[in-house]
Amino acid sequence: MDIFVIQGGRPLQGTVRTAGAKNSCLPMLAAALLTEETLELENVPDLSDVRSMLGILEVLGAKVERSGTSVALRTEPSAQPVAPWDLVRKMRASFEVFGPLLGRRGRAEVSYPGGCSIGVRPVDAHIRGFEALGAIVRTREGYVVAEAPPGGLPGGEAYLATSSGSSVGATRNVMMAAVLARGRSVLSCAACEPEVVDLANCLNAMGAKVHGAGSPTIEIEGVEALHGARHAVVPDRIEAGTYVVAGAITGGRVRVEACRPEHLTALLDALYRAGVGLERGRDWIETQPRDPRERLRPTDITTQPYPGFPTDLQAQWMALMALADGVSVITERIFPDRYMHLAEILRLGARIRRQETAAVVEGVPALSGASIMASDLRASAALVLAGLVAQGQTKVHRVYHIDRGYERIEERLSALGASIWREPDTDSPPL
Ligand code: EPZ
Repeated sequence: MDIFVIQGGRPLQGTVRTAGAKNSCLPMLAAALLTEETLELENVPDLSDVRSMLGILEVLGAKVERSGTSVALRTEPSAQPVAPWDLVRKMRASFEVFGPLLGRRGRAEVSYPGGCSIGVRPVDAHIRGFEALGAIVRTREGYVVAEAPPGGLPGGEAYLATSSGSSVGATRNVMMAAVLARGRSVLSCAACEPEVVDLANCLNAMGAKVHGAGSPTIEIEGVEALHGARHAVVPDRIEAGTYVVAGAITGGRVRVEACRPEHLTALLDALYRAGVGLERGRDWIETQPRDPRERLRPTDITTQPYPGFPTDLQAQWMALMALADGVSVITERIFPDRYMHLAEILRLGARIRRQETAAVVEGVPALSGASIMASDLRASAALVLAGLVAQGQTKVHRVYHIDRGYERIEERLSALGASIWREPDTDSPPL
């Protein structure tokens, strides 16, 4: 149980390199279950969630070799297609082994992932998708169990809409089940996130026939078998966006390299509206230094499916708007209850109140350091950003949340001039 100790008030300065995308890498690792040949992934981030996924894949028969940012996986189809509760409960994304198991082995038994601190998070769209491909799906003792008819899934038309629009996870899971189906499948109301496109590109490199990824309608011609391939994971737009906001919130010059600026259009537009100076190139974004007395303009955002403003940058935006010169409204449309960070930012002296699915942020001239508690991955990133500008010392507890999605964030922020370090948590009671 570590904490971060942050001495706030220093404008960041320097360059940081974006790692591979967690939310692209996790389902892509699961795609290795679709072939007996070797899938080699490059630009794999060093994160606890990646290690969790590799642990589940080993239970499902995968042989894993890691060297640096490369991971090679080869799967023996003999292992039982069962992903147990004690592994799946740790990481929701592990439910995306379901599609590859069902598509490749004709059967899957995966624990229900359950909810987390950002919301209920059902899997009904996943289940509807597998049924549309021809699977018989039932739940038993907390597990979702599916069987394909003899000869494998026939394929079909799957409508993947959810209450908030599309589902990233359901689109990827059903896509991975459909690539080995006997016939043609059409996924409509599909998610358009770059992580969906990256997975489709990887599957096509393995010999699949996926068309239209990145649009709401994806067509998949089932093939007999997939082969091995090598694929580089796309840069992490959420990690890159978090470092851009770190530059903006401290008023510093931060250059985020090896990223895809075109994947962050909604964030860059909002930063521009807030008065943040930005420069960008083909694979970099740089915040321009700002006079510390110059406050940002209050700027409303509403989270939406891609290419709208990402829900995974909502908390970071709240930290930024806590210091804006006026009132901004943040509306969370994807996970309506995703506001665990709000109460903790209040502890730093912010003025924010909930109003149904929105948060009304009344900017204050300054924040002051305190002990605060992380509750989930992106909330903890926002608390670190707020700590970078808060006067005095901030202690962020339970940083294991942040290690799930950010590689050595304290080292990289220190390299940008922040005063931040990790130490064992001697204050908090054990979990
Ligand atoms: C992915 O989660 C990401 N995780 C999340 O990032 C991200 O917040 C989310 O997409 C939205 O962009 C990974 O890629 C591993 P969804 P996922 O299915 O796939 C509802 C992070 O911080 N829904 O698109 O689970 C659901 O409750 C994480 O890195 C249903 O109703 O999200 C939510 O309200 C957090 N039924 C909405 O759809 C379903 O069957 C979007 O969920 C599935 C989802």
